[in-house]
Amino acid sequence: MPHSWWRTGTVYQIYPRSFQDSDGDGVGDLEGVRRRLDYLVWLGVDAIWLSPFYPSPMHDFGYDVSDYCDVDPLFGSLARFDALVDEAHAKGLKIIIDFVPNHTSNAHPWFLASKSARSDPKRDWYLWRDPAPNGGPPNNWFGHFGGGAWNWDEQTQQYYLHSFLPEQPDLNWRNPQVSAAMHDVLRFWLRRGVDGFRVDVISHIVKDAAFRDNPANPSWTGEGPDIIRLAQTYSSDQPEVHDVIAEMRRVVDEFDDRLLIGEIYLPIERLIAYYGKELQGVHLPFNFQLLDARWNAAEIGRLIEKYEAALPQGAWPNWVLSNHDRPRIAARVGVAQARVAAMLLLTLRGTPTLYYGDEIGIGHVDIPADRVQDPWTKREPDLGVGRDPSRTPMQWDAGQFAGFSTREPWLPLTPDRETRNVATMRDDKSSILALTRKLLHYRRERAPLNKGEWRLLCSSDDILAYERVSGEERVFVALNFCSEPRSCALPTTAGATITISTHGDRCGEAVGTVLCLRRDEGVLLSSP
Ligand code: GLC
Ligand code: MG
Repeated sequence: MPHSWWRTGTVYQIYPRSFQDSDGDGVGDLEGVRRRLDYLVWLGVDAIWLSPFYPSPMHDFGYDVSDYCDVDPLFGSLARFDALVDEAHAKGLKIIIDFVPNHTSNAHPWFLASKSARSDPKRDWYLWRDPAPNGGPPNNWFGHFGGGAWNWDEQTQQYYLHSFLPEQPDLNWRNPQVSAAMHDVLRFWLRRGVDGFRVDVISHIVKDAAFRDNPANPSWTGEGPDIIRLAQTYSSDQPEVHDVIAEMRRVVDEFDDRLLIGEIYLPIERLIAYYGKELQGVHLPFNFQLLDARWNAAEIGRLIEKYEAALPQGAWPNWVLSNHDRPRIAARVGVAQARVAAMLLLTLRGTPTLYYGDEIGIGHVDIPADRVQDPWTKREPDLGVGRDPSRTPMQWDAGQFAGFSTREPWLPLTPDRETRNVATMRDDKSSILALTRKLLHYRRERAPLNKGEWRLLCSSDDILAYERVSGEERVFVALNFCSEPRSCALPTTAGATITISTHGDRCGEAVGTVLCLRRDEGVLLSSP
């Protein structure tokens, strides 16, 4: 099996608003990303995934696209994008962009046409329905950001479906004109040289043809955001979605060695269907199992085994620890365990996606009420669903705005930015940044890590140990998930030496059959 770049490599997610501002408006941009490419090369990642930079009214910060084939002036221009792609490629980095097929912005010309009259040729490009017999919305579905999923249009006297904000009307993927237009969007970017797409909410793009009511969610406790009140039986993960994805895949396969990643929040059993029949679905259905896992060695060991066992023949695994929608890993498990998490992410089998800022251990950031930006937080306050704390700017140096911008950024920096920044941490051998870099480079060099098999050695409540094997070569990993010292007996590791400790020391130390781990320590061992 040939190992393409996206199998052996590591993906690094950039939220463009928050990576580097180049024009002093407090918001990151594409030119900013271009200026930081050398850092990414130094760090040792292989591909960048850029969250949306398309023209947008920014109700959902770019996930409400009003033109799929251009760049919002806030982020730059097509020329800036081309410069970024060219320079990234020259430095050996791949570029993956976000593709948002489920919905457009309500300012997209397609929607403006669709909403202009029932007889408009684009009427059926979106999901318009008559009211229910009682005059209310056509069914009981909720939007992901609170409230019902249907919006009434006074002028044409129908409702349209929006699975997210009312400003994000859902496209009708059962209409062949829609899929043809969207396939052309893919080709537009593929011709511009992008190496792949991360496809937004791909499991939602086809809905039940009859728009049946969703049943109640049996595990709903009466609390939390609206979206969890009902099971999404008819609003997502419909059987027909796999044909739509296979068509997308055929478009991507018209070009050489390009990648499709799907954003899919589903349990393992349903997730793996997205590899598609004969692997003709997405190359990588995002594996978000670690996002919700209890931070416990036994539980995570079971989860890895379950995922590994469920993978279809030939399917390539992948792992994610954080993203722009979910709490940062250091916010969830603390800064000490964030190092253990980094070692886990970068030593599992399959493509890791590293979220910008996790390499410097950005943790929870308090967002004062008057600085809240996230539309979900604004619509459903006080539920802890806020996504702003995970989207704060990257911290580059100890300067006033952390080297991110020359003025107050759109979201706050962390209180410890004077020490938690790239310039300060890159020379500190014991920093999480140095650890992440070491792991990335080592992973790239060693076949057991970038393509070898994964085997569980032991998992107790506190320790997870596994080996990675390629031919005669072996690498062992042992992680202590608790804040007290622990030891474990690992007969196979006798004679091995420590190559990397999450604490930054112990390199070259020989170990016997009992391995001692300090609090919050993970070690990577190589066999003689
Ligand atoms: C995805 C994105 C999220 C966005 C939503 C609607 O879940 O990751 O940020 O708000 O889709 O496009
Ligand atoms: Mg800017």
